[in-house]
Amino acid sequence: MNRVSDALGPSARQSAGRALSALGDTRARPNIRWISALTGASFPEIGRILEETEDLVPMEEEIRQHHRLGGRTYYAQFRAPFDIYALVRLLRPAHIIETGVSSGVSSAHFLAALRRNGSGTLHSIDLPVAQRGERFGARDSPVALPPGHESGWAVPDSLRDGWDLRIGPSESLLPRLVKEIGSLGIFLHDSLHTPSHLTFELTTVRSRLTPGAAVLADNTQWTGAAFPRFCASLGVPLARRGRTDLVGLRFPPPAPYGDPHAL
Ligand SMILES: C[S@@+](CC[C@H](N)C(=O)[O-])C[C@H]1O[C@@H](n2cnc3c(N)ncnc32)[C@H](O)[C@@H]1O
Repeated sequence: MNRVSDALGPSARQSAGRALSALGDTRARPNIRWISALTGASFPEIGRILEETEDLVPMEEEIRQHHRLGGRTYYAQFRAPFDIYALVRLLRPAHIIETGVSSGVSSAHFLAALRRNGSGTLHSIDLPVAQRGERFGARDSPVALPPGHESGWAVPDSLRDGWDLRIGPSESLLPRLVKEIGSLGIFLHDSLHTPSHLTFELTTVRSRLTPGAAVLADNTQWTGAAFPRFCASLGVPLARRGRTDLVGLRFPPPAPYGDPHAL
């Protein structure tokens, strides 16, 4: 156990642990330093939010069951679902946009947090790729849809009300969507991981970022300088999630929480 997870307290650690085993993804342990860097929230405050993840256990079990029925024990899914749950609970955005849905792990956690907030809309864009045959093969993309399934197929029915899911390339759908919404509180890029595509998505959403908005991008090992360049253009620091290539920024940055465990 490290000193940062000690700071969470036993109750938050147990809740997050149960939710994590129910989902069955060991990479999904929440990173409270990252959540704090993006929200300015204290570790005890984040701990209180993470205690709520106990209530997500049935949803995590359902997602895992959907994945199993879809023929997978492991899915190439978003690695930080509890972090985005906490971000939504702490930032309380009116609008969230995500590009890249696949089975819907990130979508389900955004939707669950919005439900708990009691307000806010998730807008998701996905251009799915289909599995080639009945069985998942070596030549299939790890995010390919199993036969007979659609984008977001693992999202529980109980969360779908009010979900704005749009199917098609973000190249055409994102500019249209951005024109429709007045403000954007959280943006997650998890679609086509190329430098030019990430730059396109970031510049498209930029004008709608509301004060205090968070922007996240996964798999930035493939997108070169696109995200750091965007941070520089906004004059804000890049917040990396541990040693991974999942990164984020807050615009403008929050006052940092005085981490009592900082070296
Ligand atoms: C890494 S997966 C998304 C994972 C998802 N966020 C999760 O939590 O499991 C990437 C998804 O983006 C889709 N995609 C790829 N290029 C796209 C594009 N140009 N526009 C929209 N979606 C795209 C892929 O087909 C795939 O469904």
